[in-house]
Amino acid sequence: MEVEVPATTYQPPIHMIIMKWSALVVVLVAIVFQTGILPISSSAKDSDEQSVEFPCRIVNATFTDCSYLRLRSIPEGIPISTETLLLSHNKLHPISSSSLAGLVNLRYLDMSYNTISKLERDYFTDQAQLQHLFLSHNQINKIPPDAFMSVSKLKTLDLSDQNNGIKKALSMPQYLEPLNMTLETLLLEKIGIDSAKIGGTLKIRLKVFSLARNSITKLNQDDFKALSGARLERLDLSRNAILSIDTKVFNTILGIDTLNFTQALSQNPPPGRIENISTAIGTKVKKLILRSLTLQSVTSSMFKGLENSTLEELDLSYNRLTTLTNASFGSYLSHLQILQLHNNLIASISETALTGLTSLKTLALFNNLLTEIDPGSFAHNGHLEDLYLNNNSIKHLSSEGSFRGLISLRTLNLSNNGIIQIFTGEEFQDLHELLSLDISNNFLKSGIITLTGNSFKPLSKLKYLRLKKIHLLDISSPSPFAHLVQLHLLDLSNNNMHGLESDTFVTLKSLETLYLDHNHLNNLWYQPKSKKPVLFLRSLVSLRTLDLSFNGFEAVPTGVFNDLVHLKALHLNNNQLSAVSGQVFENLKELQFLALNKNLINVVNQTLLSPVMKTLNILFICGNPFSCGCEQEWFRDWIDDTKIFLGNLSLCQCESPPEWRHKPLLDFNPEVLNCDGKIPLHYWIIIGVGSLVTLVLIIALISNRWKIYYVYLLVKARHHRSRKDEYDRLNDYRFDAFISHSSADDDWVKNKLLPELENGENPFKVCHHERDFEPGQEIIDNIIDSVDHSRRTICVISKSYMESNWCTYERRVTMNKLFVNYKDVLVLIILEDIPDKKMSKYDLIHRAVKKNTYLKWPGEDGRADEKAVFWQRLKTVLGEDRTPENYEALA
Ligand SMILES: *[C@@H]1O[C@H](CO)[C@@H](O)[C@H](O)[C@H]1NC(C)=O
Ligand SMILES: *[C@@H]1O[C@H](CO)[C@@H](O)[C@H](O)[C@H]1NC(C)=O
Ligand SMILES: *[C@@H]1O[C@H](CO)[C@@H](O)[C@H](O)[C@H]1NC(C)=O
Ligand SMILES: *[C@@H]1O[C@H](CO)[C@@H](O)[C@H](O)[C@H]1NC(C)=O
Repeated sequence: MEVEVPATTYQPPIHMIIMKWSALVVVLVAIVFQTGILPISSSAKDSDEQSVEFPCRIVNATFTDCSYLRLRSIPEGIPISTETLLLSHNKLHPISSSSLAGLVNLRYLDMSYNTISKLERDYFTDQAQLQHLFLSHNQINKIPPDAFMSVSKLKTLDLSDQNNGIKKALSMPQYLEPLNMTLETLLLEKIGIDSAKIGGTLKIRLKVFSLARNSITKLNQDDFKALSGARLERLDLSRNAILSIDTKVFNTILGIDTLNFTQALSQNPPPGRIENISTAIGTKVKKLILRSLTLQSVTSSMFKGLENSTLEELDLSYNRLTTLTNASFGSYLSHLQILQLHNNLIASISETALTGLTSLKTLALFNNLLTEIDPGSFAHNGHLEDLYLNNNSIKHLSSEGSFRGLISLRTLNLSNNGIIQIFTGEEFQDLHELLSLDISNNFLKSGIITLTGNSFKPLSKLKYLRLKKIHLLDISSPSPFAHLVQLHLLDLSNNNMHGLESDTFVTLKSLETLYLDHNHLNNLWYQPKSKKPVLFLRSLVSLRTLDLSFNGFEAVPTGVFNDLVHLKALHLNNNQLSAVSGQVFENLKELQFLALNKNLINVVNQTLLSPVMKTLNILFICGNPFSCGCEQEWFRDWIDDTKIFLGNLSLCQCESPPEWRHKPLLDFNPEVLNCDGKIPLHYWIIIGVGSLVTLVLIIALISNRWKIYYVYLLVKARHHRSRKDEYDRLNDYRFDAFISHSSADDDWVKNKLLPELENGENPFKVCHHERDFEPGQEIIDNIIDSVDHSRRTICVISKSYMESNWCTYERRVTMNKLFVNYKDVLVLIILEDIPDKKMSKYDLIHRAVKKNTYLKWPGEDGRADEKAVFWQRLKTVLGEDRTPENYEALA
């Protein structure tokens, strides 16, 4: 036995000693349990006075965030190294000349959303390095000409959204004069101006200029004179109410990448206004945005001015166009590559409407009212690569070739229409280059899409085929996918499909992703005696992701996944699986994700998961009706040990036995059930009782004795305590600490611990059983007495300490209750590393160790300073709430 018994005391029978010592350990453990965390470090927080006064967040040396603080003035104490300073969303008003003094490194200053009403030159005296200044959402109404004199490197200036408006300042913005060489971005949105004219003699080379959300009604010839020679990336005139546009307005500008006229014209603009825009931009613009202008029709004359231009993209979306007629685009846009016509009311496209758009690569016609696509509509658009026809009302594709001539087409989106037909393959003639075809969400009550063996025959390069939700009930032989040997992704989900042949996918050697969820494929795998399962996943050797969820599967036959050697993710959730044999996963050597949640699985055992255990990263298995008995012990323990991420763990609940119904699986502790029966055996081997029969008998005997003995202890302890009131007890400590340890660690206690504590500057009084136990008294009384008369109990934990087999859960619980009164007194010293297996997972010392609420002895060979820290921390803990006067009388 590990535990030493003082020689002077009366010697009780050996098992009584064990019980008593185990009782003590249990006391100590119970105390930890009651108090939770040991107060080991007390000097953690040094109060940082600066952080109390300085309201802002210093993100790092160069970044200070003072936004959203209701500040009325710029706070003092901003680090000089700050390059980015956020002061937005405060109540700054006004700022004073000294507020930014000294901040010479500022590059980026955001003072938007304040109530600043004026600017002065001396505000920014020290900000010679400033590059980006944001002053939007203030009340600036006056900007003196020299306001930005000192910020001579400014690149961005945002003066948008001034409540009071700076319109007067704008017509002669002399304040821009000092910035004319550097400024690149000037934002003057919503400042109430009605003219775009800036600056008399000013010349400024902007890249981004926005006049959006003003009340500009005219664009005159000289308006952008200040921008002569500029090459703009973006000129934004959106959300104005322009009535007339001079055709020479952009004459002085060299080029504009994107010219934005979204909602810029007053309602129902006459064709002449668009004509003038075309003429004005001539050859200068790459992308012209004419969105949301309430245009009802387009005519080729509108684009006459673009005849020799290099316009690449024209955006006519969100208008009210109803038809595209022969005269719509004419021949002036032969250079156009991208045409946005989505979100209009287009119901028909005449045969030659798109004939002139010979360079077109992308045509967006989604969200319109098209019902059919006439054969040859795109016959002249041989360069077209991406065609979006989704979200229309197309009912039928012509077998004479709706897409005839689209020999370069790569993307065709036909989803969200009302297509009803048998696809013979003629519909897709000429689409030899097609990579992606989306026909999803074509589901009408009146009819369905039917696939034949030739449906996709022309599409030999197809990589992505989406056929989701088209009410595709079954797929028969010959397989419509047989020709798609390059296919990477196939989506057949949400079809209520119940028929597949074993060779449906057999040629898809490149397929990486297959969605078959939300179908009725259970009957393919369900095996009444006479029926063989349909192995429809054969040969999919490249498959990486397979979704078979929501199919009603009741069984997964062995061998169905055998060819899927590269499968990474398998979704089998939301089925009716009650038992899955691990054998089915045997060939899935690369599986990383497995979803089995929401099935009918009662027990998860080792054989189910072992084939994929090595590679799995994520497992979803909760939402099954788990039984919480011994049969689940393996899984319950595995949850605690595994490194695999368990998704939705909070949804893991027990379903049976009845008393555990709807309780979290994590609360279930199989150790209580003593499933493997090892603990009593171990106990008896230790105390050396040989025979198996007597073993059983004595267990019964001892366990009854326990109960009696604990009742006795309980009464005794209560009696003992009731003798003293609280005040008495506080003053009645004879010792600072009682030491509980194993005899194997006697040397350490006697040679290190006791001298260190008893001989220091402020010596502690320590109770050590060898010399301090009262002779003649019963040992358990001695222990209770010592613990009672000591302010702290030091528990020296080592391997031999743990090996004393003192606890089954039941006994611990009993003892917990018995010694509830002992709180806050335990100090754990871990003397050496304890292997995990020595600790029970549900054990209280284990919890303390996991929570780091203990002191670790650095070891004999530890560094001197580590040891010093150890002793100092120990003394600090022992010294807490120690009032020396209480001890003087005793000393
Ligand atoms: C400071 O923090 C900002 C914001 O998190 C970050 O963008 C920047 O890179 C950081 N600078 C340094 C020097 O760490
Ligand atoms: C079109 O431009 C011409 C010449 O610049 C001008 O006279 C006319 O008023 C403009 N029309 C519109 C609608 O802007
Ligand atoms: C694991 O579960 C399967 C299916 O429930 C069962 O056939 C098998 O016998 C179990 N294995 C063990 C070791 O319990
Ligand atoms: C389950 O997990 C998924 C993915 O982590 C998450 O999106 C979802 O919200 C979770 N569901 C619940 C009910 O917690």
